[in-house]
Amino acid sequence: MKVLITAGPTREPIDPARYLTNRSSGKMGYALAKAAQKRGHSVLLISGPTSLDIPEGVDFIPIESAEDLYQAVESQIGRMDIAIFAAAVADYTPRTVADQKIKKSGDELTLTLKKTKDILGSARGVIGFKGTLVGFAAETENVVENARDKCARKGCDLVIANDVSREDIGFDSSENEVTLVYTDRSEVLPRDSKEHLAYDLVEVIEQLDRKASHLQSFEAISPRD
Ligand code: CTP
Repeated sequence: MKVLITAGPTREPIDPARYLTNRSSGKMGYALAKAAQKRGHSVLLISGPTSLDIPEGVDFIPIESAEDLYQAVESQIGRMDIAIFAAAVADYTPRTVADQKIKKSGDELTLTLKKTKDILGSARGVIGFKGTLVGFAAETENVVENARDKCARKGCDLVIANDVSREDIGFDSSENEVTLVYTDRSEVLPRDSKEHLAYDLVEVIEQLDRKASHLQSFEAISPRD
């Protein structure tokens, strides 16, 4: 299977010396890329800046901003069977990028931000991706409800939700505890290392993909009219 994985944070430039970013380490996305490659898939990892080594045997496209990530996904996703969006993408970016380093002046500085493109939310409708689509949801409250809503709104087959209000798991940690959220049900995968969880997640996603391909071929041989 051909698998696209987005990972890591994005960097949104303010001026030549500064940017806005977030606490994503990229560990979950890289662990997924490694697990998928080990399970025999052809993997393309598209990632923002991290301190991690690129897993062996994985194709890699480096990106910085949310716009870079959008462009890379748009150009590559058409040939993929599975797309997993693990990147922590900035929701807003500075409206303008200063050509020169912004000098210190008054006591306050106001930055105006504009919304970035929702890449996961564009995958189905705008870009036309037909394969198995998996998103992540970083939530601090009503984890399952919010993730289920996200799953339906963005046309995902699965949303992997985690509670980022917990100090012991998530962002910088090597461990995670996630809830698999489908449009009609959910299931908790107990706390484990991101490496172990990644293998379980790839298996779950493979099964989803097999089910979807089976349904598609069934529809092809049983036309409804
Ligand atoms: N995502 C994306 N493009 C964006 C923002 C997010 O592709 N511009 C993807 C992330 O990679 C993740 C999923 O969307 O798979 C959910 O990200 P999250 O920040 O939890 O959700 P949002 O849609 O931004 O919703 P909200 O912030 O309102 O909870």
